[in-house]
Amino acid sequence: MAMPEIQTHTDEFDEAKSEAFSDHFVAALNASSLMMMSSIGHRTGLFDTMDGMDWSTVQQIAEGAGLNDRYVREWLGAMVTGGVVEYQSTDQTYRLPAEHARWLTRRVTPENLSVTAQWISVLGCVETRIIEKFKTGGGLHYECFERFHETMAEESAQTVVAALQNHILPLSKGLADQLQKGIAVLDVGCGSGRAACSMAKAFPASTFTGYDLCEDAIEAAISLAREQGLDNVTFLAKDITTLDEPEGYDLVTGFDIVHDQKDPVTVLSNIYSVLKAGGTFLMQDIAGSSYLEKNLDHPIGPFGYTISTMHCMTVSLAQGGVGLGTMWGEELAEEMLTDAGFTGLVKHKLTHDFINVYYVMKKEHVAAVTRQTDSEHLGC
Ligand SMILES: C[S@@+](CC[C@H](N)C(=O)[O-])C[C@H]1O[C@@H](n2cnc3c(N)ncnc32)[C@H](O)[C@@H]1O
Repeated sequence: MAMPEIQTHTDEFDEAKSEAFSDHFVAALNASSLMMMSSIGHRTGLFDTMDGMDWSTVQQIAEGAGLNDRYVREWLGAMVTGGVVEYQSTDQTYRLPAEHARWLTRRVTPENLSVTAQWISVLGCVETRIIEKFKTGGGLHYECFERFHETMAEESAQTVVAALQNHILPLSKGLADQLQKGIAVLDVGCGSGRAACSMAKAFPASTFTGYDLCEDAIEAAISLAREQGLDNVTFLAKDITTLDEPEGYDLVTGFDIVHDQKDPVTVLSNIYSVLKAGGTFLMQDIAGSSYLEKNLDHPIGPFGYTISTMHCMTVSLAQGGVGLGTMWGEELAEEMLTDAGFTGLVKHKLTHDFINVYYVMKKEHVAAVTRQTDSEHLGC
């Protein structure tokens, strides 16, 4: 077949570079397919079924998982060629090696990587509608996504909730003691409420409030609090752009919530205003730079910009928002937090979590200082 005429930027066409790119692209095709099938492996319980099973036939695996064997055979084909499951052709049996099961099963939560694989399928569901938005602008609302809140809750249960007590709350000196004694805490954009419930359970003398825009997430949060018999946590569907509870809280937490806001400047200013003087804002967001050129070696660069295009940016644009996007970056985050009035900002990266950055900052006792200055000015 004749090669199409190639347009090049220079006269030199690097054949080796072209070949290497084609290999890279095909590898990406296989890797993304493997993520979709791994999501299925997680959701159907196939990984959990195969965990610890000796060499088994398709029928044994399908029966163990309570699934149709024709589908399981095809899924196993992807898993074997993708290097996840091992295969013995002599007796046509399969095995999930312990070294792989260690990263793929519910038993190893919070280190179950197959939870994260679900994003590829969640995002794939809206591809056609996102293409429309490429032409028209605007965005897709949260309710357009199948299983967004469910997947988000599972993901942050691993990255945030599991690390709250031992790694995240200790980032703010003295915070655990305050929580033990009893303080008022607000979790903004609380999603399905797992972080707030976990803190409410650990610190019964403190009171917790969780606000989220989405009714379905709040319903899940209320059910979780009820299941756990918690009476010190309240969840309400509420847009935090309209928060108006001046100096109502000692601690505000915001886990992965700023970059998908329609109006992040107002939200940060509201968080500042609902904090008592001396209060703490603990915020988690995606690690990375605001500058594309500094993200070239980002460990999840393509994934970050993809989830932004397909979810975080679009949900903001859908509300007429600014569409910061997932990769808004640490430089812009620091600038916006400082502009909102926060002081003493310290950024932390945790060894268990290469995806996120944790920001701890204060609302200083400025109100008292201002009052004093006013009084002096008035000559009182
Ligand atoms: C990426 S999710 C994080 C959820 C949760 N914090 C977690 O870590 O699992 C962002 C959440 O912010 C909520 N959200 C976005 N804009 C909001 C707003 N203006 N007011 C309240 N919640 C909002 C969304 O509904 C969503 O549940």
